[in-house]
Amino acid sequence: MTIIGILGAGQAGSTLARAAIAAEYDVLIANSRSPETLDVLVRALGPRARATWAADAAAAADFAVVAFPYAPGHALPVAELAGKVVLDNNNYMVWRDGHFPDVDAGVTTVHELRQEQLPGAKLAKAFSHIQFHGRPEVRVPGDEVPALMRLARPAGAPDRSALAVSSDYPEAVELVTDFYDRLGFDTVDNSPLRESWRSTPGTPMWQASFEGQTREELRRNLQRAERRMLRPT
Ligand SMILES: NC(=O)c1ccc[n+]([C@@H]2O[C@H](COP(=O)([O-])OP(=O)(O)OC[C@H]3O[C@@H](n4cnc5c(N)ncnc54)[C@H](OP(=O)(O)O)[C@@H]3O)[C@@H](O)[C@H]2O)c1
Repeated sequence: MTIIGILGAGQAGSTLARAAIAAEYDVLIANSRSPETLDVLVRALGPRARATWAADAAAAADFAVVAFPYAPGHALPVAELAGKVVLDNNNYMVWRDGHFPDVDAGVTTVHELRQEQLPGAKLAKAFSHIQFHGRPEVRVPGDEVPALMRLARPAGAPDRSALAVSSDYPEAVELVTDFYDRLGFDTVDNSPLRESWRSTPGTPMWQASFEGQTREELRRNLQRAERRMLRPT
């Protein structure tokens, strides 16, 4: 039994919880408020899910997912996450987050900033480039299914999509690779964390992520990324 602590219960956190439970993980899920505010969601997720305070989810988790945007000065359960693998699916969106000059200048990435916020945790950028919602325009049956489920395939399927991971910790890459596999995806290791700009909005892999890309396509797309392509919209 592996317990995932999911911090953030919006579109990303709740959909990831659903996929993880289908893959037989147990989930502790939290938002920025109190566990009671997640009653409806937890009932829908079923007996493998429980709502808790964020710090309690972090403390009890075998590994955690931070499923909310980066902000400087965030109050995070730093002590509870120390020593653990923490997945961060954030994308830097200027319209939502404001400008981070050092990220804009290519001096650092938002995921390196998050790693600084969580000293002791083993941060991995993961799940940032897979949609947790259906296609904006539903044209054929299945389009309304989030890409996380729509693109999932069994291991060895010729059209299996791959997802990227970036981390400074090999054990975090190993954990994410296993998690991706159980959810129906191959992995391309785009480490270390300072390389994580290659999987941000505007890059070739980002454009291809809506339809999915095989491991080889993803590897090539990550290599084709150039900083001038970055579009922190
Ligand atoms: N949506 C997608 O398809 C998608 C795809 C790839 C990546 N992402 C990334 O995933 C992240 C979340 O996006 P979203 O679409 O899920 O946003 P969302 O629907 O707005 O949900 C954000 C969630 O985070 C919670 N939260 C905020 N601060 C928190 C804190 N300090 N501790 C615990 N929970 C906290 C919020 O709780 P309250 O409701 O209590 O405020 C809410 O449940 C973003 O960084 C986004 O870039 C999203």
